[in-house]
Amino acid sequence: MSLLSNVLVAETDPNSAVAESYRSLRTSIRHKRLKKSGEGIVLMIASPKAQEGKTTTLSNLAVTFAQDGQKVIVVDCNLRQPSLHAIYGMPNDAGLAQYLKSASPVQGCTSKAALPNLHLITSGGQPPNPSELLGSPRMAELLEHLKQQYDVVLLDSPSVLDFTDAGLLAEYSDGIMLVVKQDRTKREWAKQAKERLEQSGARMLGMIINK
Ligand SMILES: Nc1ncnc2c1ncn2[C@@H]1O[C@H](COP(=O)(O)OP(=O)(O)O)[C@@H](O)[C@H]1O
Ligand SMILES: [Mg+2]
Repeated sequence: MSLLSNVLVAETDPNSAVAESYRSLRTSIRHKRLKKSGEGIVLMIASPKAQEGKTTTLSNLAVTFAQDGQKVIVVDCNLRQPSLHAIYGMPNDAGLAQYLKSASPVQGCTSKAALPNLHLITSGGQPPNPSELLGSPRMAELLEHLKQQYDVVLLDSPSVLDFTDAGLLAEYSDGIMLVVKQDRTKREWAKQAKERLEQSGARMLGMIINK
């Protein structure tokens, strides 16, 4: 049994107003009609800077998709400051970094069952070369594979303005939600982050104003 973090309100307090707001986010994404028949969707949650609520939003959104009966996998692509393992109470032993560094087949990428309908690929540590790993063909191959296995693939990411990683991940994503934090994110940062992600050809789904 995993030890869930109190950040996971959608699971621990599903009747709360906060949980309802994550369900309403799920509905907004559903209205975008991203799904192609027979394939899951890859959604990235991004933000201009750190500490704006990407991981909190993603992990709760994942729970609400899973509660809706969808098969969900969350992938900790924040190889610089990974945290999804802690939120779902899982060890961060094997995960994304080991798979990307290896030559093993895509089926060999370790995932863990975190909750009913919800699997997790942890970062598997903090490798020294995150952008090279995330930009490699093995990453594209993994996401293609996951889209065949899951309805929703959610990618956590490091800040758009500090690292190139989010721009790389945007290329693989069917849609991106940009999280900004009230009283913290400057308007200019949000604008720059949006422009940078759009340069990757990504589809911006909208902005979430956190807090
Ligand atoms: N809506 C919220 N209400 C209260 N605390 C929040 C909220 N969103 C995020 N936090 C807190 O803010 C901090 C940063 O959030 P996090 O999701 O880890 O940001 P990021 O992934 O963008 O770095 C965490 O301590 C988290 O618990
Ligand atoms: Mg985070």
